[in-house]
Amino acid sequence: MMIRIRLILIATIIAFVISNYLFGQQNLTNSQIEEKVNLLLSEMTLEEKIGQMVQYSGTSPKYEQMIREGKIGSFLNIRGATEANRLQRIAVEETKLGIPLIFGNDVIHGYRTIFPIPLAEAASWDPDLVEKAASIAAKEAASEGTHWTFAPMVDIARDPRWGRIAEGSGEDPYLGSVMARAKVIGFQGDELADPFTILACPKHFVAYGGAEGGKDYNTVDISERTLREIYLPPFKAAVGAGAGSIMSAFNEISGIPASANELTLTDILRGEWGFNGFVVSDWNSIGELVSHGIAADPYEAGYKALKAGVDMDMMGNVYLISLSELVNEEEIHEESINDAVRRILRYKYRLGLFEHPYINPDCTKDVILNEKHLDTALKLARESIVLLKNEKKILPLKKDLNAIAVIGPLANDREAPLGSWACEGKSKDIIPVLEGIKNKVSSKTKVLYAKGCKVEGGNRKGIQKAIKIAKKAKVVIIVVGENADMSGEAASRAFLDLPGIQVELVKAVYKTGIPVVVVLMNGRPLAIPWIVENVPAILESWFLGVQCGNAIADVLFGDYNPGGKLPVTFPRSVGQVPIYYNHKNTGRPLNKFSKYTSKYIDLPSSPQFPFGYGLSYTKFNYSNLRINSGKISLSDSLVVEVEVKNHGDRTGDEVVQLYIHDLVASVTRPVKELKGFLRITIAPNEKRNVKFVLYPEQLGFYNCEMEYITEPGKFEVMVGGNSVDLVKTTFEIEQSSN
Ligand code: BGC
Repeated sequence: MMIRIRLILIATIIAFVISNYLFGQQNLTNSQIEEKVNLLLSEMTLEEKIGQMVQYSGTSPKYEQMIREGKIGSFLNIRGATEANRLQRIAVEETKLGIPLIFGNDVIHGYRTIFPIPLAEAASWDPDLVEKAASIAAKEAASEGTHWTFAPMVDIARDPRWGRIAEGSGEDPYLGSVMARAKVIGFQGDELADPFTILACPKHFVAYGGAEGGKDYNTVDISERTLREIYLPPFKAAVGAGAGSIMSAFNEISGIPASANELTLTDILRGEWGFNGFVVSDWNSIGELVSHGIAADPYEAGYKALKAGVDMDMMGNVYLISLSELVNEEEIHEESINDAVRRILRYKYRLGLFEHPYINPDCTKDVILNEKHLDTALKLARESIVLLKNEKKILPLKKDLNAIAVIGPLANDREAPLGSWACEGKSKDIIPVLEGIKNKVSSKTKVLYAKGCKVEGGNRKGIQKAIKIAKKAKVVIIVVGENADMSGEAASRAFLDLPGIQVELVKAVYKTGIPVVVVLMNGRPLAIPWIVENVPAILESWFLGVQCGNAIADVLFGDYNPGGKLPVTFPRSVGQVPIYYNHKNTGRPLNKFSKYTSKYIDLPSSPQFPFGYGLSYTKFNYSNLRINSGKISLSDSLVVEVEVKNHGDRTGDEVVQLYIHDLVASVTRPVKELKGFLRITIAPNEKRNVKFVLYPEQLGFYNCEMEYITEPGKFEVMVGGNSVDLVKTTFEIEQSSN
């Protein structure tokens, strides 16, 4: 007995030592961390404290000297173990207190193994796989010395002109919240001290996507209701999932810039949601308070940002120069600095940086571009593809056609599939569409290729060759769209059509009479009415990352049945923008027989493709929608069930979507609100019963006093495969009797 106890004890000690070696500080409790933080803080000068609140990008001898002086606590854009360790050594070994640096990077959709851009990931409607992709990104990034990612980007975007729509999950707060949560969990894992997890930083707090005219950095003027009901929920979900940091945005929100906004940064984030992580500004967004015109100089900017709740100054030219003077002049109390530094230091402890400040350079072995990572990238890329049109079942194609023409400026492009913010992604890792197709078809199939034209510009010289090879083929696959840098930051567009002469190329090839399949590559919804009307098959592939060509070929040739759904509405024309499914009814909803109703006189009001839309090579049928009760009380839940049958001859994925409509309320409510979804795989002729549970708190909204309430009354509940084709029923929330 004694021997067994002793053995158990020894085993426990060994496990403790190993896990402590591997996972740094995982065994520190919150109160131990608190003790350490306070002790450290008591030994720090004011300048050293401010240093922890300062972050710079890249290295320089000047920055290195500043590390020695305790004036920098964090860097961004340092990649690779050698550089990270070199700088870390200065912080740990050459400063009085040896406080480690925290290295942040934009690990947005993969580190070296590049996954589909976030908008595409959202089109998978598969949070589990998105979580897995984030955990792989974390692992690769951590293995090269990154501790912290400036992701997920959870900004709701209802305006496709805004280039940063590519970086988020689209237009819907519910889908956005599910994806936000999945990514935070993926990046942070169970334990931040695990050497292969990284700290998440949901951004850009908040309402950055509401930029007027879709122009990046532009003014945002929204009601508090829109702020709370549309823009805040994904952040709330990210905080609920344990995100340890948040980035304050560039934009103003109805007069107060986000990086000086007490309502959002303190009252809501910390007060209402109990966030206890730290807030980093976006790149110089504190300095830009001067340009916004709410601060006369960096001193006032620093004062306002700190007071609002920004703890760390990215590209910290403001905090570094202003904070000590502000304390000395008694404009701000040193305790506010202490609070900010505490929040930052806590995460340096939680990440295990004090115990394991350095990264083992051998760590990357078998991690970067690992087979399993590439496999997940392929799965996610396939799931992200949305089949927009497939007339006469032109798709999937046969693999043994004798000749296929692959045309278009993006058909053999290795840059675009990386998308914006591709971190360490390399074009050499990309499988372009042409290569994917060549690998897929039979050995006797000739694959002919012509670029046709460039994405931008008006050079028509290549069009004739494209026509010539099209005529030799049984089918033409044309890959058109945008370059990677046409979406993302500072890449707003005033037009949403295909740039350059790409439509002309499509028209010229279409005129040959050879069947055409258009593959779109783009970082935003496009307005492509001629193509939609004329071309029989269209695939939306976004920017799919390293496995782009393989995933597209799998779909084109039927090895994978597409099941992605649009996370954002596609307009018919830029004039319809902003256009989103969860709009209000208005007092004069569209009635095509009545002039004085809400519509355009020169374009239908409906979108080109609605939110949630996407086809499959099979057909799904919805029937037998049931609810457990027509009347529920405020303390009950509603069970909604529906049968989904695969009527085709192929197995396929369907994303079953549930929407509600609060018919009469004390404030106007959207005509539809997504409240649940599930991606399922259904075999031919199989019928699946899908069940959702709705709780009254999911049916609420912000009343006139900005309190979140659920009101009794009638609701519609709708289920279907997109936001338009739905089966529906009604139920009522009863007034409580007391
Ligand atoms: C972007 C952020 C990004 C930061 C650091 C800024 O310009 O708005 O999204 O995280 O740069 O690269």
